[in-house]
Amino acid sequence: MDDSKPGNPRLLRFPYEKLKTMEVRQDDIFLTTYPKSGSHWVLRIITSIVRGTDIDTTGLPAPEHPFVEIMLNEEEDDDPRLLLAKKKDGHPVNFHPSMMKSPRVMATHAPYDLLPTQFHEKRPKMIYIARNPKDLAVSAFKQFGGPPFQMYDEFPQFLEEFLNGEAIGNIGHWGSHVLDWWKRRHDNNVLYLKYEDLKKDPRAGIQNIAEFIGKDLTPEDIDKIAHHCSFDYMKKAFQDDAYMKAFGWKEHPFVRRGKVGGWKETLTVAQNEMIDNYCEQWLKGTGLEFEME
Ligand code: A3P
Repeated sequence: MDDSKPGNPRLLRFPYEKLKTMEVRQDDIFLTTYPKSGSHWVLRIITSIVRGTDIDTTGLPAPEHPFVEIMLNEEEDDDPRLLLAKKKDGHPVNFHPSMMKSPRVMATHAPYDLLPTQFHEKRPKMIYIARNPKDLAVSAFKQFGGPPFQMYDEFPQFLEEFLNGEAIGNIGHWGSHVLDWWKRRHDNNVLYLKYEDLKKDPRAGIQNIAEFIGKDLTPEDIDKIAHHCSFDYMKKAFQDDAYMKAFGWKEHPFVRRGKVGGWKETLTVAQNEMIDNYCEQWLKGTGLEFEME
């Protein structure tokens, strides 16, 4: 991690040594994403399926903050962002995954190789959501170029690091992240989803996730969850979020535009080609394809 970058890259140094040794339960439900793939959206869907829609509508979906990176980042408590993230859901600052009731719903951005060792023994459910790298790159630039990170002034600077697998903390290449799970998509504890499919037919996506988790939903349940997890509903729910006030955000980076193809407003022809080449390099022959618009 390069501390000489402007802004605060320290905030993206994820505690993956601790993740390796984390206790895993067989009935855990994990969500893994490369940042900006729709993590908060899918987390809200999963949580609504597991716990019902009667949840905190002002921000994140669970009474506990379910990103293991944040929960495990104990000694970084001097970090205002982590403190805020931990406090805002009303649980103690030293909240730890071991304090969560089963079935735990937890999210992570960890690449496959850095997952808890016990994950491979206990084989809990893993839902993976992948998003096309063009929209993802623009979304990531908007988030990591803004407070509290302020790591990038200009998009080309971000794009160069993104294509080198160096843009987002110690997570590595988007290409290897999405492929590591794609290769395991047929494992019986893995559900591989794409943002673009979920956007096209959220009800089918919700039904698919519920079946995978083993929950029966009535058509009314699905309607309720679809409404509760719709972009417009979430936009409103997140607008008075504690992060918005603390960081002075004008729009919430977790619920910003929510479009497929929005990258066209930002990428130049040359930048578009650079991402096409990157996709070719990583995805050619793998069968993994993305709708870009
Ligand atoms: P944009 O920045 O392109 O709008 P993450 O939660 O992984 O940080 O992902 C954030 C992205 O998911 C943002 O993309 C955000 O707008 C989008 N998103 C959040 N909620 C959504 C929803 N209900 N429907 C569609 N997209 C959503």
